[in-house]
Amino acid sequence: MSTERKLRSSDWFGKQDKMSFVHRSWFRNQGYPDDYFMNRPIIGICNTWSELTPCNGHLREIAEVVKRGVLEAGGVPFEFPVTSLGETVMRPTTMLFRNLTSMDVEETIRANPIDGVVLLTGCDKTTPSTIMGACSVDLPTIVIPGGAMLNGHFRGECIGSGTFNWMIKEKQGLENYTMQDIQEVETGVARSQGHCMTMGTASTMACMSEALGLTLPGAAAIPAVDARKKLLAQLSGRRIVEMVKEDLKLSRILTRNAFENAIVINAAIGGSTNFIIHLLAIAGRIGVPLSLDDFDTTGSRIPLLVNLKPSGKFLMEDFYYAGGLPVVIREMQPYLKPDVITVNGKSLCDNCTVSPCYNTEVIATLQAPLQSEAGVAVLRGNLCQQGAVIKPAAASAHLLKHRGRAVVFECIEDYIAQIDDPELDIDEHCVIVLKGVGPVGYPGMPEVGNVDLPMKLLKKGVKDMVRISDGRMSGTAGGTVVLHISPESAVGGALAFVHNGDMIELDVAARRLHLDITEEELAARKAGWQPPLPMAIRGYVKFYIDHVQQAHLGADLDILRGGSGAEVVRDLH
Ligand code: FES
Ligand code: MG
Repeated sequence: MSTERKLRSSDWFGKQDKMSFVHRSWFRNQGYPDDYFMNRPIIGICNTWSELTPCNGHLREIAEVVKRGVLEAGGVPFEFPVTSLGETVMRPTTMLFRNLTSMDVEETIRANPIDGVVLLTGCDKTTPSTIMGACSVDLPTIVIPGGAMLNGHFRGECIGSGTFNWMIKEKQGLENYTMQDIQEVETGVARSQGHCMTMGTASTMACMSEALGLTLPGAAAIPAVDARKKLLAQLSGRRIVEMVKEDLKLSRILTRNAFENAIVINAAIGGSTNFIIHLLAIAGRIGVPLSLDDFDTTGSRIPLLVNLKPSGKFLMEDFYYAGGLPVVIREMQPYLKPDVITVNGKSLCDNCTVSPCYNTEVIATLQAPLQSEAGVAVLRGNLCQQGAVIKPAAASAHLLKHRGRAVVFECIEDYIAQIDDPELDIDEHCVIVLKGVGPVGYPGMPEVGNVDLPMKLLKKGVKDMVRISDGRMSGTAGGTVVLHISPESAVGGALAFVHNGDMIELDVAARRLHLDITEEELAARKAGWQPPLPMAIRGYVKFYIDHVQQAHLGADLDILRGGSGAEVVRDLH
């Protein structure tokens, strides 16, 4: 069962000296036999399971199945926990901790006798954080996305997790929802284990993993509770052992072409805007040059094929039954770079040559797409010199070119205090400007960009308004929302200098976001500006604030970009 090549782990276990005795001996307290330490590939199963991350609550079960596969292929599985990030509870935002988890993953892999890695992921940040950490070590690595929950159901209607949240204010205010109604929705929308079943960030990240070539084909859309999720786990366990033997490292899979393919696929599935920030951070770790503009040049004129909420009609379970991501990859072949390899050693397109579509209402064809141009638009202008993003497919057509009066909120508390004040001077033509929600300012760049509209306008029947901020938006949300303004207001980006009553121009076709004041006036406002007090003076948050990069660079910490490989020079005694 042992491999020919001398494995990384044999440097711990394969010697005859005192330290190898120590390394082996303590593992023996689990009852492992001699041959476990005889140059068999050691597979680290990196588990983001946590009861505080309900989306990943089933991953210990999945890990047991992965172990079966690893053992069958002659490897030795060791499961280890890493910091988990539960999107729905962690304050002030899981995004503050994405980089922290990535450090945990990186250091745990490097410091231990591991030859190959399985990443068990699910909820939004648990995917990019673990991939980022693994990239900085660059061992053979395979991703198993935890899978989405079953479709939500409520009073005869199919409802999507996340997406429904954004209607609660309307439902309570306009349809007088009671607590009992709300409790019924709560249970109806969370019917099984798994992550959000809309094309929100978690599903987007699962699809990103598959499109980058980091999963076995077809992995992304399998629901969490479908038996085929376990089948995938077992086969992935077998495959990672082979990948170690082939020395198929992350850097061989994650080439520039793989990133471009992922951008194309993300546009075709109508993926979350959070994809941008996470993909930029992953590219930074593996050392592939990728810029914000690549998302516009490569990913903005791509047909939309997948009809999933929040902008479409269906949910992940429907996507799986329609054939899942392999159908999209097969359809999108003319747009994809062929010379990439995936974890199974074949190219993305070769994996999907026979991938029939079982429901063209859910996955459209290239000949008859849902929209001819999807993806994201990257905006520039005096309000966002390093860029900002908008997802035109999720916006209202009549607002894509708009000039409106700014109604400014200096921070989220200011917004909460004022938005429903009947005296607030605002109408549907105004532009809602929210400051202080960027990486440094909040801190952590939360998903608050799609702020609710004022109740008085909702009651009037207003459905959408232009909203701009330095924050992010949940992948399950929609609207004419300009996000990721860089540089952010807290570090002196022009957003900080917008005043109530200023006119703002948005022109998505021209890729322009402009604050209509003179350069002299802008300079004068800048000269009189005082930066806000830092949000922390100690601990991880202080470290984060001191090192986090702006959104257009992926909001990774500056000292974490790149990798340090897998080597550790010194032993512990
Ligand atoms: Fe975990 Fe949506 S809250 S995926
Ligand atoms: Mg989310």
